[in-house]
Amino acid sequence: MNLKTLTYNQSEIRFGNLTENGFDALLSSPRYAQSKKIIITDENVYDLWMEDFISSFEALHEAEIIQLPPGEENKVLDICQHVWSALSEYEIGRNDLIINFGGGVITDLGGFIAATFKRGLSFINVPTTLLSQVDASVGGKTGIDLGPYKNQIGVFADADYVFIDARYLTTLPPIELESGYAEMLKHGLIADAKYWKELKSIDLSSNPETWLDSIYHSVAIKQKIVTEDHLEKSNRKNLNFGHTIGHAIEGYYLENDAVIPHGYAVAWGMLAESFISLKMELLNQNEFEEINDTIRNRYPKLEVETAAIAEIKPLLLNDKKNVNGEISFTLLNKIGSAIYNQKVNDALISEAFEFILNPEA
Ligand SMILES: NC(=O)c1ccc[n+]([C@@H]2O[C@H](COP(=O)([O-])OP(=O)(O)OC[C@H]3O[C@@H](n4cnc5c(N)ncnc54)[C@H](O)[C@@H]3O)[C@@H](O)[C@H]2O)c1
Repeated sequence: MNLKTLTYNQSEIRFGNLTENGFDALLSSPRYAQSKKIIITDENVYDLWMEDFISSFEALHEAEIIQLPPGEENKVLDICQHVWSALSEYEIGRNDLIINFGGGVITDLGGFIAATFKRGLSFINVPTTLLSQVDASVGGKTGIDLGPYKNQIGVFADADYVFIDARYLTTLPPIELESGYAEMLKHGLIADAKYWKELKSIDLSSNPETWLDSIYHSVAIKQKIVTEDHLEKSNRKNLNFGHTIGHAIEGYYLENDAVIPHGYAVAWGMLAESFISLKMELLNQNEFEEINDTIRNRYPKLEVETAAIAEIKPLLLNDKKNVNGEISFTLLNKIGSAIYNQKVNDALISEAFEFILNPEA
């Protein structure tokens, strides 16, 4: 794929090799030439890519690097305080620039830190996981978790630029590729049946650098939706398909000091919410079975005891889409089309959890 660009709100998204995409020239341009550069990253990305990153771009030679422990359990206020303090020590001001170099935890957290420090610094995202390239780094949602509740504290803030370079995916463990692939499947399910069919044939053991067209396609779906409804008053809620139940499962793991890949939780959430869509006669049986087979073939089974459902369900009550205390779902009415603000009765929610745990029951 040739170099491509998309824009939404204040952001420009560039796809392709970072060097060919003018990363260095941008950082040396009048807009950023005088800015101190601070790179926020995690330890894994630091070990794998930081030397290459810094040495490839002259404009980064003097950059300060803030290295954080990896993982969702670190997307929390304590870590923000640590980073805000470091920014103070470096005497970072309004004209300086944060570069978030990492997965979705880093782009969510780093974006939030940038947006809140001194009432807002500019930031650029260079996402390094499939999940952050197809989803988390784009769209302006930044934030952190609060105990078991995902993304409870945050602000909408747009990166000036997002640079999507699939080269970084070559070091991603298979489990993280599967995780990002779940968000791509979601994009197909909510908005593009043809893309969903194409995605089903992706071989996740092939070189991810060859997936840039699909990554672009996913981002284009998200970009169109967030451009129409940036603040999630209406159809942006469609992007939450799989996430109402997915976030509750992820929260349950966080509460029990265990972490699962975000995309696994989304995959299980999509199974449960497709089941609900079927039972509410929105989705037909054939399409439901197609989704069920695809997800079950690609993802491991959710391994929690049936008794855990009673602990997971209350976590739904803090979902950000809820209105007047009522849980609000995004469901599918067919493959390629979603419908938001759907109320679902409590018994059906329990049935959906039982279905993902015991498909044969
Ligand atoms: N803001 C949004 O719109 C949005 C959308 C979807 C998901 N999210 C958030 O994104 C987060 C999940 O993102 P994620 O899956 O990228 O998690 P992550 O940032 O924790 O990355 C997953 C793992 O991959 C490692 N890693 C990162 N880049 C690597 C590379 N190139 N090679 C090898 N290892 C690498 C990380 O160190 C980490 O261990 C969740 O917190 C989720 O809530 C946000």
